[in-house]
Amino acid sequence: MSISLQSPSNIALIKYWGKKGRQEPQNASISFTLSQSVTQMELDFLPKENNQKIELDFLFAGERKEKFAAKIERYLASVANELPFLYDYKLFIRSQNSFPHSAGIASSASSMSALSTCLVEMAEEIGFEDYPYTTQAQNCSYFARLASGSACRSVYKGAAIWGKTSYWADSSNEYAVDFSAAMHSVFHTYCDTVLLLSAQEKSVSSTAGHSLMENNPFAPARYAQAEENMGLILSALKAGDVDKVGEIAEEEALTLHGLMMLSRPAFILLSPHSLKVIELVKNWRKDTGLPLYFTIDAGPNIHLLYPHYIYNEVQDFIQTELKNYCQNGQFINDKVGG
Ligand code: PMV
Repeated sequence: MSISLQSPSNIALIKYWGKKGRQEPQNASISFTLSQSVTQMELDFLPKENNQKIELDFLFAGERKEKFAAKIERYLASVANELPFLYDYKLFIRSQNSFPHSAGIASSASSMSALSTCLVEMAEEIGFEDYPYTTQAQNCSYFARLASGSACRSVYKGAAIWGKTSYWADSSNEYAVDFSAAMHSVFHTYCDTVLLLSAQEKSVSSTAGHSLMENNPFAPARYAQAEENMGLILSALKAGDVDKVGEIAEEEALTLHGLMMLSRPAFILLSPHSLKVIELVKNWRKDTGLPLYFTIDAGPNIHLLYPHYIYNEVQDFIQTELKNYCQNGQFINDKVGG
């Protein structure tokens, strides 16, 4: 039997940085789900003898990648208690991304949400019913979370909240919930252009970054700030307040990088080009009065966030100025979707 699907990446506005227990977040986060940046995955499965072993054949972009395969195998073994049928089949997974590696687009979010959704589809296909939660989205999101925290937000279109917050009634640390139904229409067509400033591998993995939060003396203040920002951004997202959303997104991005610089050992992922682009974006916003803002994940690349009605102006700005700072002039135009 075979399952084939695609799942998108997402970009966080309120950042998840710091975890506890079985990959639960220290603070609630919210992200836009992207539309063009996706993982395409095919899962084929063949019955085998149940020897309490995971048997996996994995290809990424048509090639064997031992490190990825080992990671997926460890993950499958870690959820086999909850999905015991994984021992009854040999699994063949073929995966590829629509975007380049180390582009500043979270490939773990798209690939791990694709994988968890394949597993839930597989469970349905073979008649397994012993799910932890009632809805398919909750189950997909829960199993995505166990693979890579932020991936759990990718199973919803538009926007998703992950982590318990007093500002959203059904929010949970266990899985993400949909926010798009409450979101103002201006954000349903919101643009995210990713500027590829450097395609170098990250010098610190997000796993290492999360664990450095454990001894970061600023952690309690950060978690309180994230909760406050969550309240503010949810109101702004509902009201269609593009400036407030942009201001909070920028504060969150700079806080994330501030926390990295304040870790022991400290690390700096921003490059001179990141700083230059930030300066140019702020100046352009001031000069034109147009609502162009940025966010950044755990890397040097900059995501430009802006409403679709200023698409042409922003594309001109990229062509005439920002492109000069991109590696080989590369950038990716994406938008909210899923
Ligand atoms: O899901 P992880 O463990 O790769 O962590 C992702 C962390 C950030 O991308 C920096 C922020 C976020 O909320 O997506």
